[in-house]
Amino acid sequence: MTSVSSPDIPLLTLNDGSSIPALGLGLWKIDDAGAAAVMQEGVRAGYRLFDTAAMYNNEAGVGAGIAQASLPRDKLFITTKLWNSRHGYDETMRAFDESMIKLRLDYLDMYLIHWPVAGSEKYIDSWKAFIELRASGRIRSIGVSNFLACHIERLLEETGVAPAVNQIEYHPVFQQPDLAAYNASKNIRTECWAPLGRGAVLERPELLALAAAHGKSPAQIILRWHFDQGFIVIPKSANPERMRQNLAVFDFTLAPGERAVLASMHAGQRTGGDPMTFTGL
Ligand code: A2P
Repeated sequence: MTSVSSPDIPLLTLNDGSSIPALGLGLWKIDDAGAAAVMQEGVRAGYRLFDTAAMYNNEAGVGAGIAQASLPRDKLFITTKLWNSRHGYDETMRAFDESMIKLRLDYLDMYLIHWPVAGSEKYIDSWKAFIELRASGRIRSIGVSNFLACHIERLLEETGVAPAVNQIEYHPVFQQPDLAAYNASKNIRTECWAPLGRGAVLERPELLALAAAHGKSPAQIILRWHFDQGFIVIPKSANPERMRQNLAVFDFTLAPGERAVLASMHAGQRTGGDPMTFTGL
């Protein structure tokens, strides 16, 4: 069992009994050469969860970062993801081995199917491979990303095994409360990517007002709002000061009326693909 506690970050329980930090560092757009240094900054700031993907092309750099980290392996929580072109049982096994070599790991904390891939159900065979990899001890927790209820229902019909998390796009101008409620109904944690909307909403007046009221930044207001809903968040920052700032969200609370202000910001503005149409191939 992993013990990824950090003085700053609460742990949340997953449906397989593992614990995951409520907040981690997203590594999208961090290049391979820079990833190790970003991870060192992250570890220094207090991060324990690092979220990468085969598609980010930085797993080798993340592997170097893990090797250089001043923490024992069991203090880190590493997530990576299976890319869309690698779906299918055998291909998933090969892709997993490639990721593990780059990451220099003998076990992975969490492996996610990155997208369901529109027009194909090969994700079901990938899920069967994930279940075996978890049973063999090479992965602690298995999950999915960008899955809708219909995709998760297919996994349940075919295998009876629910993902531990569903990592989905979720930020003030693109909220998916119905999908989050579905996840919760199946005891699946919602993990939010692009929690800051890629930084695009931080100047909105309603956020600036809440930030001023709490002596916090707009980013901190947003991340606290995610936490208050029981979500895991993985804000991306390559900047040490902003990395620290994004962790300092566990020392204040938002009132129900304040959370309602954020809820009212939904505008259907995705920053990424629509799982019903996206293939990424
Ligand atoms: P940077 O890496 O320069 O800090 P998301 O997590 O939604 O993908 O958003 C990431 C974007 O938001 C990046 O451009 C990141 O830039 C920026 N960002 C991250 N944290 C903060 C913060 N606390 N204040 C302002 N911008 C931030």
